[in-house]
Amino acid sequence: MITKRDHNRKGQAMKKSTPQISFVAPDVFVTSVLNPSMRVFDVVMGTKYGTSYNSYLVSGTTKTALIETSHATFATDWLEKVEAVLAGSAPDYLVMNHNEPDHSGAVVALLEHYPDVEIVISAAGAINLRHITNRTDLKLTVVKDTDSLDLGGLTLHFMMAPLLHWPDTMFTWLPERKVLFSCDFLGAHFCEPRLFDHAVVYRRAFTAEIKNYFDSIMGPFKPFVLKGLDKLNDLDIDFICPSHGPILTKGCELENSLQRYREWAMPAQKDTPDAPHIALFYCSAYGNTAKLAQQITRGVTEALPAAQVDSYNLVETEPDILTAKLNDADALLIGSPTINRDALPVVWELLAGIDAINIIKRPVALFGSYGWSGEAVPHLAQRFEDLKARVFEQKFKVRFVPTDADLEAAAGFGRDFAASLSGH
Ligand code: FEO
Repeated sequence: MITKRDHNRKGQAMKKSTPQISFVAPDVFVTSVLNPSMRVFDVVMGTKYGTSYNSYLVSGTTKTALIETSHATFATDWLEKVEAVLAGSAPDYLVMNHNEPDHSGAVVALLEHYPDVEIVISAAGAINLRHITNRTDLKLTVVKDTDSLDLGGLTLHFMMAPLLHWPDTMFTWLPERKVLFSCDFLGAHFCEPRLFDHAVVYRRAFTAEIKNYFDSIMGPFKPFVLKGLDKLNDLDIDFICPSHGPILTKGCELENSLQRYREWAMPAQKDTPDAPHIALFYCSAYGNTAKLAQQITRGVTEALPAAQVDSYNLVETEPDILTAKLNDADALLIGSPTINRDALPVVWELLAGIDAINIIKRPVALFGSYGWSGEAVPHLAQRFEDLKARVFEQKFKVRFVPTDADLEAAAGFGRDFAASLSGH
């Protein structure tokens, strides 16, 4: 893919480190590092195929620009790759499309080697990077949408892509080589030494990881995903270089990935638009909260016969399914007994998977049986208040075993909650 001219111009680098240097396109080098052994990312996301911290170096006739760095743990490996490509020269720019520490972790190490590097960054990114590096001497050039940077024969164009998935995110487009540096967008935690999608041996596993990555990282920001895709509509892209996983190429996974991202980000179409989907989650030590759940479900369906009410016992359902239902439902009912003056751990585990963006203003109602003091319901209500959900003013609690009157009251609670959803 590299031309003879490029080989000659980079001849010194080629002779010294040919086995270590890869290219996306002429003058676009790969300085990524692999982390095949990572099994959990950011504490919460499983990564059974490891990951890569992708970085690239674009070399114009007058200037060179790095695109992102690596996780701090791999700073030494990453710098060796950068040095191999640069072959004694220094980079002029570091473009930070996004500043989460898996991409900014080696910025300080870079500056120790190349103190004059100018960092090209979004306004939000500049704030983040100052706090991540704790340095006041960063040479920052803040760019905005449609700004560009001339490298001599090659131009980097910056496209703001906020909330994909941080406020600081931007894309960088290199039109002369038809390369898009898309940051986390369209990436995957998939450690693949062969670099390109068409060389991936386990293609199905790779594309499954693209979906997992979308669900975990981009899922809360679906409207922004659609805006990001719209920004790419008019670009004739040959290569999408994400910050994790294999490079997407035209004719292989590039078009598929763009299309699937749009499908995944589109609002769900309902067969019956006026019928809310209500998810009820509960756990129950002695069957009392379970009885309440049953009667509340009855009450909801009496008041809203068209509603789809799905009930989940938290100890009998796979966590991934629970999280998906939690975030997809139009309204939530959550029931927990009280143990140790709190809701049960399995309920808090469920809430740990909440999409904190889209829970805002979503109707939520809390209920539960208790024995002594009954803190589970108010504690859960407070959590949802903090998340800015629309917490139903009635909180339904029953001491120990519900009587027939309690069960009827639970159905009434369900009817009232359903009635509160009218017009939602
Ligand atoms: Fe790969 Fe948002 O960092």
